[in-house]
Amino acid sequence: MTPENSLVHAYLKTHPETRSAVNGTLLGNFTSGDDLVDKHLAPMIAWVYGKIADQVSPSELAETQARMYIEELSVFARYNAQFLKAAATNVEGFCPELAHELRRNHLEEGGERGKVPAHYVLYSNALLSDLGLLVNGHVPAPETALLVEMHQWMVGSHMPSLIAGSYYATEAVAIAETELLREITDRYGELTIQASGSALKKLDYYYRLHLDDDHDAAQVDGLSVEAAHIEGLAQFIRKADLFHIDLPQALDGFLQIMEAMTHWWTQLAHRAQEMN
Ligand SMILES: [Fe+2]
Ligand SMILES: [Fe+2]
Repeated sequence: MTPENSLVHAYLKTHPETRSAVNGTLLGNFTSGDDLVDKHLAPMIAWVYGKIADQVSPSELAETQARMYIEELSVFARYNAQFLKAAATNVEGFCPELAHELRRNHLEEGGERGKVPAHYVLYSNALLSDLGLLVNGHVPAPETALLVEMHQWMVGSHMPSLIAGSYYATEAVAIAETELLREITDRYGELTIQASGSALKKLDYYYRLHLDDDHDAAQVDGLSVEAAHIEGLAQFIRKADLFHIDLPQALDGFLQIMEAMTHWWTQLAHRAQEMN
């Protein structure tokens, strides 16, 4: 990604108030974590993912394109739980509250005995039983491998504040990504077995598990599983002073992962075009 083709840079270019908040945070003279999250980072994510949804255009995908997206998108879910565990262990001495939040996510993603199985298992099994798609051994395309690698570098960082900001980015995009993924599996289902939505029973369960406020798996009142992940991590930016989170470092981490995610989607969209 260069400033010319990065959606993050495109947002900064067209939203000067966010550009100055970002610059100000990195330079140490913008210090409101609440404003950073509510006025700048959350709107940036919404805008960027709107552009990504346009680039992907799920309703126009051919079967092979939809399958490519599904295969590539399954890879991050495969490694997410281990990243959460590594990040929790890494930050526990510096910020036990952050470690606790990451570990809570780890148990949800990785499967907690007596509760819900690992999300990757739910998802890959749902693809197999609803759509007959086997993604378990899928070898990722280079852009997906890069995204995974960038998360691997991030969770190994010696800077806990960077991990806090990075993980906020990872979780903050998850609702938009899950909604897009649902549109892609619906498209694939329509093209192959003329079924979508709640007719794809296991997939429907998986999506509702993440997105519905009143799902059994939701553990925070009034928030879906994913919304609780987002707000749980946003706290460490909002209350950076309380938790001794270095805001410039957290924003640096946010930008690293946000750019990594948008680069990945843009590259997948190019890959899909070339399949045409
Ligand atoms: Fe999940
Ligand atoms: Fe999540």
